[in-house]
Amino acid sequence: MSSSTTSEKSSQPRQTTFRFRCIGCGAITGSAAQNFRCSDCGNLLEITDSSWNSCNPIALKSLWRERRTLNESLDLSGVWRFRELLPVPQAEESVVTLREGNTPLYELPQSSRATGIASLYAKHQGMNPTGSFKDAGMTVAATFARQAGYRWVACASTGNTSASMAAYAARGGMRSLVLVPEGKISWSKLSQALDYGALTCQLRTDFDGCLRLLQELVQRAPVYQLNSINPFRLEGQKTLALELLEQLDWQPPDHIIVPGGNLGNSSAIGKALLEMLEIGLISRLPKLSVVQAEGANALVRTLREASGKRLVSVQAETRATAIRIGNPASWEKAVKVLQVTGGACEQVSELEIAQAKAEIGAEGIGCEPASAVTLAGLKKLLRAGFVKPDETVVLVLTGNLLKDPDFTMAFHRGDLFRGTAQEQESLKLNLFRHPPVVIDATLDAVIKTLEQAEKSYPTDSNA
Ligand code: F0G
Repeated sequence: MSSSTTSEKSSQPRQTTFRFRCIGCGAITGSAAQNFRCSDCGNLLEITDSSWNSCNPIALKSLWRERRTLNESLDLSGVWRFRELLPVPQAEESVVTLREGNTPLYELPQSSRATGIASLYAKHQGMNPTGSFKDAGMTVAATFARQAGYRWVACASTGNTSASMAAYAARGGMRSLVLVPEGKISWSKLSQALDYGALTCQLRTDFDGCLRLLQELVQRAPVYQLNSINPFRLEGQKTLALELLEQLDWQPPDHIIVPGGNLGNSSAIGKALLEMLEIGLISRLPKLSVVQAEGANALVRTLREASGKRLVSVQAETRATAIRIGNPASWEKAVKVLQVTGGACEQVSELEIAQAKAEIGAEGIGCEPASAVTLAGLKKLLRAGFVKPDETVVLVLTGNLLKDPDFTMAFHRGDLFRGTAQEQESLKLNLFRHPPVVIDATLDAVIKTLEQAEKSYPTDSNA
């Protein structure tokens, strides 16, 4: 093997010649304004690189696979391993990485039996370093923030972006400013931002209010915004799809189902799928479907009431706080992805989310509430005949179970819907609850509890 081949396979970042392209008017520029919007028409920018089209798909597949055996810093990252399809910085030293990506693809045997879908998988992005899919995008965006010499980075967040940004800023030697809605994000996520050293502001507004304020702030202060409006974030998040297809030996599934909040992730996955098809890494497109909570259903309403032509924003309310967003920034990108891939947009109730989350937990995997909309949505899409039992389905689980312990405890203790309009209906979820029992510290008491539990468990034919 020649030395140049070795260095390409291992640590050297490959220089790319990326540009910014407006998703509205198609204008191409070499640099982006602070708000990452087109100076002509005001629409969002995305990143494009003409060198991507000349990639040889067979060579890429074997190069990426071989890198999995290497111990160089860039190759250990499940994002930078795919750097031929990413914007890369001028120097390897600028890369801010926590060895993100490399997330597992799990089978879901119990949900498979319950839904009748034989090939059902979960791509668990909650297994990233800070516990959510945000890390895959953050490594790329933080890298470019550092390369540009920013001292401060900032985001508005429902919790996961802030946790991820704070961690990557700390690793990259930058300061971070977090704007979160007061009382509307889980303690677990908030505590991460604090520990990673962010300047954390709890604003008396919702996520949409935080994001609005951030847009004004970046025009006035030298801070670099790391929300998913930032197209470098979406480039990193593309690798979810690349890694997924590699795990499936490049055989596209029929459906990929993803939760929808600010709609950056669905846009990123869609972009990756289209690029993979164009390059010839895959031969057909999976349908990419987006699921939202009923109380935060801006995309659902945008499609149903305005045929995807203008955003119908909503006053968002859901216990799945990660997706409590009423005015999604990347709605136009997401609409395009749904149209091109032929995916559906579905909404699910709070009860459906709680049940699906418990079911994913019972697989020994677990996820946060926002991720569980995928399984809940799948059941609806199956009932509607949009998904067929003989098709291959991948659910994207975006956040770790430990991200929202309050939700999990309230569910299992039977408190989640107490005092709400759904209290009566929620009793049907008792089947899925596993509340803790408080007993005396005696052998007798433990044995009695065990015997009672044994009697109440349904006989498991597969045990
Ligand atoms: N799932 C989780 C766990 C999330 O944290 C988010 C978004 C989504 C799904 C929705 O993804 O916005 O790309 O459509 N969380 C953002 C945050 C908004 O601030 O952490 P999206």
